[in-house]
Amino acid sequence: MAAELSALKGLDFLSSADLNGAQTQALLTLAADIKAGRRNPRLDGKVLGLIFSKASTRTRVSFTVAMARLGGQTIDLNPSVSQVGRGEPIEDTARVLSRYLNAVAIRTFAQSDLQAYADAASIPIINALTDLEHPCQALADYLTMQEAFGSIEGLTMTYVGDGNNVAHSLLIAGALLGVNVRIGCPAGFYPLEQVVAQAKAIAAGRSEIAICEDPTEAVRGAHAVYTDVWASMGQEEEQSTRVQAFRGFCVDEALMSHADAKAIVLHCLPAHRGEEISAEVMESSASRIFDQAENRLHAQQALLATLLGAEG
Ligand code: CP
Ligand code: NVA
Repeated sequence: MAAELSALKGLDFLSSADLNGAQTQALLTLAADIKAGRRNPRLDGKVLGLIFSKASTRTRVSFTVAMARLGGQTIDLNPSVSQVGRGEPIEDTARVLSRYLNAVAIRTFAQSDLQAYADAASIPIINALTDLEHPCQALADYLTMQEAFGSIEGLTMTYVGDGNNVAHSLLIAGALLGVNVRIGCPAGFYPLEQVVAQAKAIAAGRSEIAICEDPTEAVRGAHAVYTDVWASMGQEEEQSTRVQAFRGFCVDEALMSHADAKAIVLHCLPAHRGEEISAEVMESSASRIFDQAENRLHAQQALLATLLGAEG
């Protein structure tokens, strides 16, 4: 294990900011090595719990397959069939699970609930998406960008859409990797000021962090153009007002014509064709969306191997 990564053994991964730049890059390198078959870390006999309070296809399946490939197992602790759903306190649940499991990946609403698990648990807690961040997604996203371009330092990642969880992790992880991150979003849907300030502090002038309300300006010259749904999980009742608010922010051929000629298109999925992305762009040769989904698996194998101190 690279020296940068051995320092992460036993730690939580609640935010992209839990890693430094060297650790983020080392994790991407390990993920690429695992994907290429150059490394084969082992977690035989280790068990990961999955506590998901929201729907998931990619995150749930990629964590399950990642553990299987590493020689370990997962247990699905869906709150509706555990005592969590009946109100057992997070603090008690986290302490009990720490006696059985080696790590827990949690998808929930409030970052403070995730933090409460981490505070009470004695095993690594992993953010599998909260309303604030989606750090495992950002690892796969920058791995995909790195596969397309080689070195990504100094390149530009533009995210077009709602400035929430996915955008937040892209801002922080991009800053850590020396990538320029631009967010194009309508007024009222900006990323949180504290996250933008955090990304700017990390970038420290090495790369540019910018927010703008003009999607064309945001996309101009970008090497990766990324979007996500306009109404996230938990915001379903705002769907129709958001469709109005985000008019003009669809990643379509017209918007892509302003990006770099070799630009790639990314989307964390699930996608709503005809809303945040056109069907043509989704299926275009620029799209790396399904490689990106696959990379969740490789990135999370690298993450689990690192946090659980795998050999090999
Ligand atoms: N991108 C992502 O997290 O997908 P799921 O919601 O299917 O896990
Ligand atoms: N922003 C989306 C991401 C889904 C992977 C959501 O929170 O629903």
